[in-house]
Amino acid sequence: MKNSIGPKPLLLTNPVLIVGSYDPSGKPNAMNAAWGGIANSNPPCVSVSLRKATYTHGNIMNRKAFTISIPSEKYVKEADYFGMKSGKDTDKFESARLTPVRSEKVDAPYVGEFPVVLECTLLHYLELGSHTHFIGEIVDIKVDEECINEAGLPDITKVLPFCFDLSSRSYYGIGKKLDKAFDPSVLQTFATGAR
Ligand SMILES: Cc1cc2nc3c(=O)[nH]c(=O)nc-3n(C[C@H](O)[C@H](O)[C@H](O)COP(=O)(O)O)c2cc1C
Repeated sequence: MKNSIGPKPLLLTNPVLIVGSYDPSGKPNAMNAAWGGIANSNPPCVSVSLRKATYTHGNIMNRKAFTISIPSEKYVKEADYFGMKSGKDTDKFESARLTPVRSEKVDAPYVGEFPVVLECTLLHYLELGSHTHFIGEIVDIKVDEECINEAGLPDITKVLPFCFDLSSRSYYGIGKKLDKAFDPSVLQTFATGAR
């Protein structure tokens, strides 16, 4: 039997996305956003939902651009810090001792030490209630050389991203590989009733 626990913004595996933006004076800022994900394939788009009270919200509205830096496990404390302090009164990059790097393609900074970065221009936004849903077009992705596989894509076992769990207010790593996705043999298995 399942118990009803009521409506909540709960998905169990939320990505940890560090959203980079510039404030009106050009100061780089970064915040932690777990309400987000890939929103479209062509053009490639990503979404993040931000409260108006965040400094980042106004920054994105002004500059029409943001980045998403994906932290590795070893930066879990820095990522958490980015989610508790506001750039309104703090230089979070300086306090976290991380390096703001100006994006090549968009008017926003990213976190130099984090292995994967999405550079985004603001395509749409939608007011949903507590949060504004920002949709950014991904104009480029930058990946640390040592985290790129033979196919030229990020290797998740080297990047070591982590996710946020709302129920326990905790971060979890990726765990072990379970199986291949889009595996044609799965179609055969279920067609023949072998499982
Ligand atoms: C794990 C985690 C996830 C968060 N996700 C979001 C989110 O998706 N949207 C949001 O508005 N705030 C989120 N926050 C809170 C912001 O990161 C926080 O308010 C931050 O101080 C905003 O920074 P800023 O004012 O410099 O933009 C999250 C915080 C944590 C720790």
